[in-house]
Amino acid sequence: MLNIVIFGPPGSGKGTQSKKVVEAYGLEHISTGEMLRSEMKNGTALGVIAKKHIDKGHLVPDHVIVGMLTRKLKTCRGTKGIILDGFPRTVNQAEALDQLLAQYGDQVDILLNLEVEDEELIKRLLKRGETSGRTDDNGKTIAERILVYKQVTTPVIDFYKGKGVYRSVKGTGSVDEIFARMQTAIDAVLHERMTKVK
Ligand code: AP5
Ligand code: MG
Repeated sequence: MLNIVIFGPPGSGKGTQSKKVVEAYGLEHISTGEMLRSEMKNGTALGVIAKKHIDKGHLVPDHVIVGMLTRKLKTCRGTKGIILDGFPRTVNQAEALDQLLAQYGDQVDILLNLEVEDEELIKRLLKRGETSGRTDDNGKTIAERILVYKQVTTPVIDFYKGKGVYRSVKGTGSVDEIFARMQTAIDAVLHERMTKVK
């Protein structure tokens, strides 16, 4: 399997780029944000818990997220691989992911960190908020999401740097330009894997 983590602050383009990766590499897209929004829409118990946190721009507790992800990962066995979008967001989650993948003899192959300035993030999310219907796409909640990212989520970067799978990707420019940068990094992993097999 090819296991990719797409990382970056709110509005950095994780969802947009994930779609392109899925098309190009045939991977399964796992977006914890989208899964939570679907639970909220269906009014499930998990959705009710999630809404309380999401509407404030805070993270949903680790145990809730890890439980949800564990169930999802099981359904992805035997596929070409996965792209994780919005997970892991804490070092606890990163450790849990490592353990889950290790059960299958797998690991995170690459983490792609989309780097975008705050001003651009806010601009993108406010614009999306005009039509998205997302209850967290408003000025106050966007500011809180970016703060939580900086305080709680960025330590995940060092966790993966330590494993040698971290790659920084400039997240500004056109969607296609950014995707080309991502492809260069992903193809390098695939190339390395092929040369090891030989
Ligand atoms: P989640 O759904 O993951 O949201 P997010 O991380 O805040 O990021 P977004 O989905 O808003 O942005 P994105 O990076 O996907 O960018 P996009 O491609 O849409 O999480 C939501 C909430 O759920 C969290 O706050 C938390 O409460 C909870 N949650 C989720 N996962 C969790 C976890 N693991 N642990 C705990 N809680 C969790 O692009 C943004 C906009 O910009 C779009 O309009 C797009 O069209 C536009 N755009 C994209 N690329 C470009 C470009 N190159 N130029 C111009 N515009 C662009
Ligand atoms: Mg997204």
